[in-house]
Amino acid sequence: MAYYKAHVFCCSNERPPRPLAADKNSGAGTAPGHARGCCKEKDADKLRNYMKARIKELGREDDIRINNSGCLHRCELGPTMVIYPEGAWYSPFTVEDVEEIIQSHLLNGKPVPRLLLSDDQTELRPEQKQARGA
Ligand code: FES
Repeated sequence: MAYYKAHVFCCSNERPPRPLAADKNSGAGTAPGHARGCCKEKDADKLRNYMKARIKELGREDDIRINNSGCLHRCELGPTMVIYPEGAWYSPFTVEDVEEIIQSHLLNGKPVPRLLLSDDQTELRPEQKQARGA
């Protein structure tokens, strides 16, 4: 039997702003963000903290472990979380999304397709962009 039933790694990586090429040439200021973005700028900490608090509130902290993670290298799809042992990748955007992952996936073993990332996915699906107002 595994020590934990589930392990959730939540990217909390932060990248500092860097100058855009045009700014480097002109020497004027910096543009916000990084070419790949980062999960921290997409409320990753809030989502991870919510998940951790809810798991504790539900009395499941002894079998479901919520961890901070460095960059999971799917930055454009962030904020990213991956649940093991399944290796299920998620891109939640709100605490309501995280609550759905908790209730459906972590507590009842049913993945949440609208929030899942496929293995070969390199950009957000149209419905994921729409949910983010992008
Ligand atoms: S910054 Fe989160 S996956 Fe890279």
